[in-house]
Amino acid sequence: MTDHFNERLKEILVGKVTSDTAVKIYDEWGQNGYDQSVSAQAYIGPEVTAKTIASLYDKSERDTIQLLDIGAGTGLVGEQLRKFGFSKIDALEPAGGMLASARNKNLYRNYHNHYLKKDTLIDANGGNIVLTMKQLYHDVPGYSESMRSLIKDFENSGKWEKKLESQFPNYFEDALGVTYVFKLL
Ligand SMILES: C[S@@+](CC[C@H](N)C(=O)[O-])C[C@H]1O[C@@H](n2cnc3c(N)ncnc32)[C@H](O)[C@@H]1O
Repeated sequence: MTDHFNERLKEILVGKVTSDTAVKIYDEWGQNGYDQSVSAQAYIGPEVTAKTIASLYDKSERDTIQLLDIGAGTGLVGEQLRKFGFSKIDALEPAGGMLASARNKNLYRNYHNHYLKKDTLIDANGGNIVLTMKQLYHDVPGYSESMRSLIKDFENSGKWEKKLESQFPNYFEDALGVTYVFKLL
């Protein structure tokens, strides 16, 4: 089973499948050992993301801060955020199978089962967006350009300001990771 999903993951990583197909793969994976597969491959993305978020807020204020975990999956980031004292966390995840696993862990206040929408962050002015991903995604045709141009567009239009871009080793096995912090203006 793990091999099956690792093969599908490679298809996602090289941009071979549409976004809907990728979500369908996650949908099945969420119900079939996603957590076990990624922990076997030393996946530190959720921990790095939570540490970055924790670095933005003093310990005393963390339980008042509202967070939205976009692409929450089975809740791995939520688990790490709770360790740092955050409790007002909502999950947004289009793959029902992933979200069902997150629900079982009882980590989030609300569960939104849909894609990120254009107006999702409309009331988040003054807040931060923390984005962590495999550095390799910057080399996936289509994804890289759309990601970079989205970031540039938002910066140029004064919608957000980049506060951090930091590379780190061993994001997933030996792949480099990158984490960004953007302040919503
Ligand atoms: C690599 S998984 C990461 C899941 C989780 N954050 C973790 O670290 O284990 C990416 C997740 O993003 C979700 N996703 C894909 N497209 C999305 C979109 N447009 N809006 C929100 N989530 C999306 C996928 O369904 C998948 O669960």
